[in-house]
Amino acid sequence: MWSRRRASGFSARWIVSANSRSVKRLCFAENQFAVTLRSTLDRVVSHPARMQVPLLDLQLQYQPLKARILAEIEAVADSQGLILGPRVEAFEKAVAEYCGASHAFGVSSGTDAQLVLLMALGIGPGDLVLTTPYTFFATAGCVSRVGATPVFVDIDPLTYNISVPALEAALEKHSNVKAIIPVHLFGCCADMDAIVALGKKYGVPVLEDAAQALGARHALGGAGAIGEAGWFSFYPTKNLGAFGDAGMVVCKDPALAARIKAMRNHGMEPRYFHQWIGGNFRIDAIQAAVLQVKLPHLDSWSAGRRARAAFYRKEFTAMGLDSTVTLPVEPWAGTGVENHHIYNQFVIRAPGRDALRAQLQIDGIGAEIYYPLPLHLQECFASLGYRKGDFPESERAARETLALPIFPELTEEQQHYVVSQIAMFYQR
Ligand SMILES: Cc1ncc(COP(=O)(O)O)c(C=O)c1O
Repeated sequence: MWSRRRASGFSARWIVSANSRSVKRLCFAENQFAVTLRSTLDRVVSHPARMQVPLLDLQLQYQPLKARILAEIEAVADSQGLILGPRVEAFEKAVAEYCGASHAFGVSSGTDAQLVLLMALGIGPGDLVLTTPYTFFATAGCVSRVGATPVFVDIDPLTYNISVPALEAALEKHSNVKAIIPVHLFGCCADMDAIVALGKKYGVPVLEDAAQALGARHALGGAGAIGEAGWFSFYPTKNLGAFGDAGMVVCKDPALAARIKAMRNHGMEPRYFHQWIGGNFRIDAIQAAVLQVKLPHLDSWSAGRRARAAFYRKEFTAMGLDSTVTLPVEPWAGTGVENHHIYNQFVIRAPGRDALRAQLQIDGIGAEIYYPLPLHLQECFASLGYRKGDFPESERAARETLALPIFPELTEEQQHYVVSQIAMFYQR
């Protein structure tokens, strides 16, 4: 692999190959850079002892809450009210208040939240929905499942969120667009000012995929509650994770809310009378009970993630690596909205990404690729007619990005170890 990098004011040309799991430097054009980088690293990399750093450790969150969670689960078991019911309603109210939504409905997953919303909006065959190809599959999968057509729009290379100029170009080009779906990827709000303005200009509703972003804030409001509607995932790895699958859909319009509420339960209202064709998208009471225990901790967990992101930044800079790897950006830092990024993932761009990940695995460090193949190149979307090269930034992100361990209980020692191992990788 051929890459050109800048660090400590020097530029370097490296040829690296991922041969036999280790990256070999074959050519190093500027010796002075090598000497400087090595001596900087020798000063700051203390070669800490080997340790295990998982990508995420849910035990550390569970143990302090265990007694309360088990008591709530026991209460649900004792009540034998297992699906929907008062615990779900209490949790819906709490999330609506938390993010500033008018209506909130607990459902069986983040995927089902999007699906029931698209169904309730009547989006279907012949309709186009704009979103990015650099997201989890469900974002576009749900569009196809209701018979509509996902139309992909490339991402902004800094935030990995939908590119506003590309979105405007797509709105100009297509006439039958029924929704814009920005994804607040990795927990960072998309450029909602511009996106909401475009939605208004073209008369298209903005539906937020906030699956990874409950708790992220924007000047316009809480992620998920800014556009006409939005959804959250409570998949266990999310900042607010259930004990299995669960999700929530939120919206502004009361008529839409009534449809969603009925359609999550086969469109049944009243019992055994079906005005609409819905599905079984109900949430279990146990999931709502567990999530209700966790919700009051969400802000402090997100603050913990933000603090760890800041510490990573400090470590990468101290080791002179901040110009070798690309760190995540915080587009609205300093504007008064500090937690617009709640770091569901801490994602860097890294030269020689696959070899780095393999080396980190050997070093006992969990690192993950979100996402290795953009959606426009997925086999199941071949009929949409996209080709390699159609969305260069999404394709580049898929090649270059790597998620590092981040969770509120991650220690500075562990973070120092992660960054030291990355420094050593580039030193080899
Ligand atoms: C961006 C995005 N959208 C949608 C989903 C779907 O959520 P769930 O896994 O709860 O169905 C996820 C889950 O990972 C996601 O990350």
